[in-house]
Amino acid sequence: MLKRLIARIDDFFYRVILKNILKLSKLGYGFIVSGAESGENFEHIYNNKPQGAFLIGKYIDKILLNLPSVRATRERKEEIKKILRKEISINRSKGRKTRILDLASGGARYLRELKIEHKNGDVESLCIDKNMRCINLGRSLAGRENVKNLKFLRGDIFRLGHLKAISQQIDWKPNVIIASGLFIYFNDQAVERVLKEIYQSLPVKGAVIFQSYENLSSRKLMRKTSSTSAGEQWTLYYRKPEFWKKLLNDIGYKEISISRDEWQMNNVCVARKDA
Ligand SMILES: C[S@@+](CC[C@H](N)C(=O)[O-])C[C@H]1O[C@@H](n2cnc3c(N)ncnc32)[C@H](O)[C@@H]1O
Repeated sequence: MLKRLIARIDDFFYRVILKNILKLSKLGYGFIVSGAESGENFEHIYNNKPQGAFLIGKYIDKILLNLPSVRATRERKEEIKKILRKEISINRSKGRKTRILDLASGGARYLRELKIEHKNGDVESLCIDKNMRCINLGRSLAGRENVKNLKFLRGDIFRLGHLKAISQQIDWKPNVIIASGLFIYFNDQAVERVLKEIYQSLPVKGAVIFQSYENLSSRKLMRKTSSTSAGEQWTLYYRKPEFWKKLLNDIGYKEISISRDEWQMNNVCVARKDA
């Protein structure tokens, strides 16, 4: 009886009181109203400049932007850039272009920040996202920042055979495929299918780079206050590095390496297609 009462008070606190307070901040509003997975929220996280309604909204935004899970998101972007730079340098030393396909790119911040690398044409990137608002955002920011050789295309990467169809359609074959901030929203079967499709799309020695969560310190806050862009309750999938190692191995990937951030939340996995 008491337990049930406590649970109801807790629920009321999160779903009514906290939710409405958080909405005063830009990040809180974005997570609650536009859907937590929105690429626009991630741009705000990367910008790390508090905004909100009145001083109080700005102050709440500052707190949210400094939560460990949010700092870990900025950190993983840096890790992805580091891996990409290494990949670009390997390809350069072999006289090869680096062609990056970013799945569920949002605004593709990590690619836009590799502006110098994209400049002379030996790095080309194609970003795919199913949300037209994210495509428009990425396009306009890349245009404003004058990032060359970076294109955006609308597409649903979970549609069977879609990856292959896209690269055939535009006669462009990626040798690096990224997926960041995506797999947490999809079940094991869906993720396995996409990783198999990626394997088929890559050339030998081509790399897949993806981010995954093994934990999220703001799990409860997310579950109780935010919803998906379709207005549904979140189902989030946390997976340990061992899960990825086994799956990647089973598919045939080699040179698998998985990093873990200092908060033990994000894993960034890199693997290669074998001969
Ligand atoms: C959390 S954001 C990640 C953005 C970016 N990759 C990053 O890490 O900063 C997730 C993105 O996945 C996109 N998305 C979700 N499901 C998708 C699907 N089936 N096909 C393509 N994009 C999808 C959303 O529109 C959103 O922009």
